[in-house]
Amino acid sequence: LDKFSLGLETQAQIRFTSTTSAIKAQTENKTAKAAKESKTFQAIQEERREAAERSVLINCPPKINEKKFLDYLSKHGTINKHFFYNSYGANAVVEFSSRESIASLKDSINIPAVEHEAAVPFKSRLLSLKWPGSQSSNHPMPKFKEQSPASISEITQLLSEQDSIDEQLQCLTETLQLTEENISLRFLVCSLLRDIAGAYFPECIIRPFGSSVNSFGKLGCDVDMILDLNGIYATSQKKGSALSLEYQVKRGASERAVTQSILSVIGKCVDQFGPGCVGVQNILQARCPLVRFAHQPTGFQCDLTANNRVAMKSSELLFLYGQLDPRVRHLVFGVRCWARAHSITSSIPGAWITNFSLTLMVVFFLQQRNPPILPTLDQLKELAGPSDKCVIEGNDCTIVSDLSKIALQQNTDTLEKLLQEFFEFYGNFPFNKASINIRKGKEQTKPETTALYIQNPFETTLNISKNVNATQLERFVALSRESAWLLQQKEILKQSSDSPWGFAALLLPSVTSGAGVKSRSKRKLEPASSRIKNLLDSLKIKGGETVAKKGST
Ligand code: GTP
Ligand code: MG
Repeated sequence: LDKFSLGLETQAQIRFTSTTSAIKAQTENKTAKAAKESKTFQAIQEERREAAERSVLINCPPKINEKKFLDYLSKHGTINKHFFYNSYGANAVVEFSSRESIASLKDSINIPAVEHEAAVPFKSRLLSLKWPGSQSSNHPMPKFKEQSPASISEITQLLSEQDSIDEQLQCLTETLQLTEENISLRFLVCSLLRDIAGAYFPECIIRPFGSSVNSFGKLGCDVDMILDLNGIYATSQKKGSALSLEYQVKRGASERAVTQSILSVIGKCVDQFGPGCVGVQNILQARCPLVRFAHQPTGFQCDLTANNRVAMKSSELLFLYGQLDPRVRHLVFGVRCWARAHSITSSIPGAWITNFSLTLMVVFFLQQRNPPILPTLDQLKELAGPSDKCVIEGNDCTIVSDLSKIALQQNTDTLEKLLQEFFEFYGNFPFNKASINIRKGKEQTKPETTALYIQNPFETTLNISKNVNATQLERFVALSRESAWLLQQKEILKQSSDSPWGFAALLLPSVTSGAGVKSRSKRKLEPASSRIKNLLDSLKIKGGETVAKKGST
């Protein structure tokens, strides 16, 4: 993976594995070196965006002679990278080493003549390969890269084969995380969309944010995009000269109204001209107005927003936390998977806790360890250099971009311990009076009476979990207590390759939460979980007491 060559994961890996002081000294040298070599979030995004601009997406016939295919395309220039995948048929992503190749390629191809219908003559980088005559099937088929997540049963099986809870969580991350190809595809879909929006705003950029770039995305997650118009405001004219010109512009009632009107026009254009874009919905009345659509050639669900720079900064912040120590990503992937398995999170908007909130809860928990595993947001701000200064709509969003400036304390807690303590921490957290604040790294007095208060990291007067109701919070707390209790049971930790143990056992339907009642009949169909079933049944009596006692201390 590119991540390794970027030196980011390496840096974190080194920090985690150092236990003795001899290794520590060695490690510190390596850490500093790796950090120096590592690129900033912005540099990584820029590299990927630029590569996407040099790429095309080609729908292919089912039998592909890879060599002939590449020879044919190489007439237009050197190919840097390519891969095949399936989504509504076979597809190929081809990245050229120069943008001129794209121009040359586009010059050589035609708009098809369609029978009984008419075509919108929009020349995009989404192409179809026509292979005349029948192809011989003697040649080997290219390898297709998987773009969908593993099923829960595949995951459970894989987890059962591991040797410890730590290995299980590492394996979970490796199985669920976005692949290098999937990330390229996410940048490519943004770049293809940019070509449409660029018809109106040639200087615009469409950037992915959220879990596509924050290092916590799992295969199959949506692509959150921002239409970035900041390039338009860049000015070359010096102030104070005697004469100056400015553009005449149409005015809107507010920033929000202008964003809504731009998105509505681009949404219409995506709907009517965008090849492969289907199910376009303009959701312009939302707190953050957006255009939602499905991009069939990549299989992605996309949410296009505009004027949303703070969200991009949040993505950078989460990315940074994810790079500082590998345990952060493993714990986040574990907690997110656990929450999804128990319907604490949902793909439907509502009173549920979101993945974004869960991630901040993990960050906050890791800031509370002794010694802390993660620095506070205020500490990240203090370490920032002059070029890191960032103020968005009056909010100071400054954070350090150079990871090598961040000194971490030595904490060697295992993932098993952290998982156990995460559940204990939130199973007993005083949600009724305290708020979660990653800027201070300490709980604060809750400023309002909402069930769950997690301070927005950059817009500090806002609560990112305002939507969560008391019922959903209670379910989260009950399930956290149950999982904390389960992790204390020896039977759960007994390894077995044919029934879920360790982390996999925590994914089984619960007996304490409301949602678990419904799925209990389903559980009877799973003989592998009968051992766990007995345990869970006894939880009703024992667990309730244990947790109640703990909670009152
Ligand atoms: P997935 O569930 O995997 O899509 O995770 P995600 O992090 O991409 O979450 P989502 O698609 O819901 O939101 C995308 C990004 O928008 C997040 O990463 C945050 O940066 C931001 N975001 C989401 N919800 C909120 C919120 O309630 N408040 C604020 N300020 N930002 C939010
Ligand atoms: Mg998302």
